[in-house]
Amino acid sequence: MLKFKKVLTFVNKCVIFLEIVTREHKMSELNRFGVSIENNLLSKFDRLISERGYVNRSEALRDLIRKELVQQQISENKGEAVGTVTIVFNHHESEVTEQLTSVQHDFMKQIISSTHVHLDHHNCLEVIIVKGAAIEIRKIADRLISLKGVKHGNLSLTTTGKIE
Ligand code: NI
Repeated sequence: MLKFKKVLTFVNKCVIFLEIVTREHKMSELNRFGVSIENNLLSKFDRLISERGYVNRSEALRDLIRKELVQQQISENKGEAVGTVTIVFNHHESEVTEQLTSVQHDFMKQIISSTHVHLDHHNCLEVIIVKGAAIEIRKIADRLISLKGVKHGNLSLTTTGKIE
């Protein structure tokens, strides 16, 4: 019985050792660094991230870094990007509906989807999803937004973070 207990203790120790090794291996993929920051700025940051639903500072900081990297990639027009072009227009005005369709047919390869919503008797909302080189997406968005009859337009660009 005593021998059995000894074996059990040994097995338990092995399990604990393996758990520590695994945990350390997982931790080694992450890097820790210290940040010096004024109290006032840190409390503002904490308030902001709590309003946005972050559970800890690390995740909020990682997202901020990723956001900046994506912005940099987009501004340099590097790699493949995805954009949503949101436009509001009066469908009664000039030939805006026909022109919108025509532009979208010109860029069939890049425009992967579009959704049309009738907002009221006059106004329509269209969201167009464009995929391709960032420079090309900007060009398509400019063409759509500058059409006569389009009251308001906005391009939102993002990437998967992968540079080709
Ligand atoms: Ni409509």
